[in-house]
Amino acid sequence: MDTTGDRARKTPARPNPLRSRKGMEAVSALLLRLGASAPEAVIERLVADPSAMEDVCRELAGGASIEKYRKLATTSNIMESGRVEADYAYVGLPDEAQGCDFDTGFRDHMAPRLGKRAESFAVMFDHLRRCERPLIVETGCLRVPDNWEGDGQSTFQFDWFAREHAGQVVTVDINPDSIDSSRRACSGVTSTILNDSVAALHMLGSLAARPAALIYLDSFDLDTSNPMPSAIHHATEMMAARGLIGPGTLICVDDFDVPPLGPGGKGLIVDQFMHGVRADVLFSGYQKVWRVAA
Ligand SMILES: C[S@@+](CC[C@H](N)C(=O)[O-])C[C@H]1O[C@@H](n2cnc3c(N)ncnc32)[C@H](O)[C@@H]1O
Repeated sequence: MDTTGDRARKTPARPNPLRSRKGMEAVSALLLRLGASAPEAVIERLVADPSAMEDVCRELAGGASIEKYRKLATTSNIMESGRVEADYAYVGLPDEAQGCDFDTGFRDHMAPRLGKRAESFAVMFDHLRRCERPLIVETGCLRVPDNWEGDGQSTFQFDWFAREHAGQVVTVDINPDSIDSSRRACSGVTSTILNDSVAALHMLGSLAARPAALIYLDSFDLDTSNPMPSAIHHATEMMAARGLIGPGTLICVDDFDVPPLGPGGKGLIVDQFMHGVRADVLFSGYQKVWRVAA
């Protein structure tokens, strides 16, 4: 006996809600919520020209209402807490690196990947080892994972070092994408600030209870055909960081001696200042590292 056909015949077809007045009112109310100021006009436009759908979607998507609902969906009910661990695989290091102490990790895994920056990072860590609970402040954070030779993965290196030396890292970057990379790479020992570096350093300097052990300046990209904007920005970072600089503070500027420019780069003005205040030069090459007189 075919009961399926019987049942199909007995079930009344559900009316299409879009054909009812209430249904169209609901669609209008929805469009209004999503930011269409005249929902009826939007519907009329789509009925007259169905190909306008893409334009209508784009207009609504660019509005404040959609932005608000998207933010509510992506930020509500975040109930996370606990220890944040570094992600070695994210920066392209093999599993065994995770089991190493910092010195072994630097020697076996990081230095061989660092190329032109290997020696100067080694100099910085040698000096930092002598500091108690080192505070490391950086401008321009790790932005591209596994870009050791290109950028240096500085934030990951500092994070690993600070974890083993009861230290702390604060890194500042103006770009949310760069901050996202550093957050994914680093442990909770590293705090990230999304802001212009000058404003953030000025704020940190007014709050810090002790001088930084290292200030690492690597923000505003260097344009080798017009180096001055980057050099000026890094000079203003030094001014903004004055409250973080004390006896023995290390200062490093990345992209210092960059071909074909020669010495200067991001540190052209900082170099003149450090020379004037008789800071010790610990390294001069692709990076330049100074130590403020103790
Ligand atoms: C060269 S990358 C930093 C690389 C990083 N130190 C590393 O080793 O992987 C430069 C970073 O500086 C950031 N930046 C540029 N201008 C800035 C500014 N005014 N304030 C803060 N960060 C800035 C960029 O968003 C970029 O992420």
